[in-house]
Amino acid sequence: MQTATTSKLLLGPGPCNASPSVLEALSRPLVGHMDPEFFDVMESTKSLLRKVFQTENKVTFPVSGTGSSGMEFLLVNFLEPGDTLVVGVNGVFGGRIASLSEKLGANVIRVEQEWGRAVDVEIFNQAIREHRPKIAALVNGETSTGVYQNVDGIAAVCRESDTLFFIDCVTSLAGMPVSIDEWGVDVAFSGTQKCLGVPPGLAPVTISDRALEVYRKRSRPTPSFYFDLDAILAYVDGDGGRSYHHTAPISMAFALETALQEIVDEGLEARWARHADAAAYLREQLGAFGFAPVVPEGERLNPLTTLHLPEGFDEAKVRGALLKDHDIEVGAGLGPLAGKIWRIGLMASNASRDSVDTLIGALKDYL
Ligand SMILES: Cc1ncc(COP(=O)(O)O)c(C=O)c1O
Repeated sequence: MQTATTSKLLLGPGPCNASPSVLEALSRPLVGHMDPEFFDVMESTKSLLRKVFQTENKVTFPVSGTGSSGMEFLLVNFLEPGDTLVVGVNGVFGGRIASLSEKLGANVIRVEQEWGRAVDVEIFNQAIREHRPKIAALVNGETSTGVYQNVDGIAAVCRESDTLFFIDCVTSLAGMPVSIDEWGVDVAFSGTQKCLGVPPGLAPVTISDRALEVYRKRSRPTPSFYFDLDAILAYVDGDGGRSYHHTAPISMAFALETALQEIVDEGLEARWARHADAAAYLREQLGAFGFAPVVPEGERLNPLTTLHLPEGFDEAKVRGALLKDHDIEVGAGLGPLAGKIWRIGLMASNASRDSVDTLIGALKDYL
């Protein structure tokens, strides 16, 4: 039987490499999903997640499934047909929020911005004031373009308009500042395979009390079994005993708890600084070979750098050779940026100058 045994350096848009202790946690002996030992792991994971999201929200836990499951879980619970959602669209993932919300019967207002730029907060706020939506959604780290979205001043406008403020922090969480309570975010989701440094498979979410009140006023039950918030809370929440909803991904929970503990031990600020340093070093080193940043300074997402390619550079060929001959993965452009840029991820344990040096060492053969 053929298995992948080579260890690759994953410098694409995610997944990134997991640390040895996270890999060890994945191979720990299994326990059952109703075992009190597992509930201890769950409680510890919830409490660590609150630290990493920087929130006091009681309802903070990992949804089973990849990042998109976090998005779908929140939208299916908080949107009802006919509700209005305003969303910033400046890349793939804002587009995904928009199209999923349309499938759920929402009236979707897109605030479009060119790919590679942050959504203009003034224009976004204006759309909230005008449409008074149930949800205003932004992607905090747009992985398709490498943009980090500033959210200053949005929560206040949301409150005036009875709007829930929703963010996707899949690529920013634990790699750049994400401060749920300070920013006044009501609902947020992330994914494990980026700066949390865990394989893909869980989607941490956090929900404010204000959002819970809105959820309780739904006119009909959530039209999903797997993502039904109340049914999941009956298992995830210790209050009043726990009842089975679906079998929790035990090994992934072990891995997430281990990774979160590593993050808290490192310290959030130190971790953000490490991601910032690695990204700056990457831009400087590749800049010398003619790779130019796509995103202007001040809007750049440190965990994921997007770069225009040097003149005449055969990006697909070099990307293929890096993977095949050097076991290094880098990401291609998506949508209108396909064939025009590279997306290089320096996430979790890969956010280091060493990763950049390894990449440059291999790339020199082709430049
Ligand atoms: C910003 C953002 N949102 C959502 C997702 C969806 O996550 P997943 O592919 O894990 O389902 C991704 C994945 O790359 C992402 O980068």
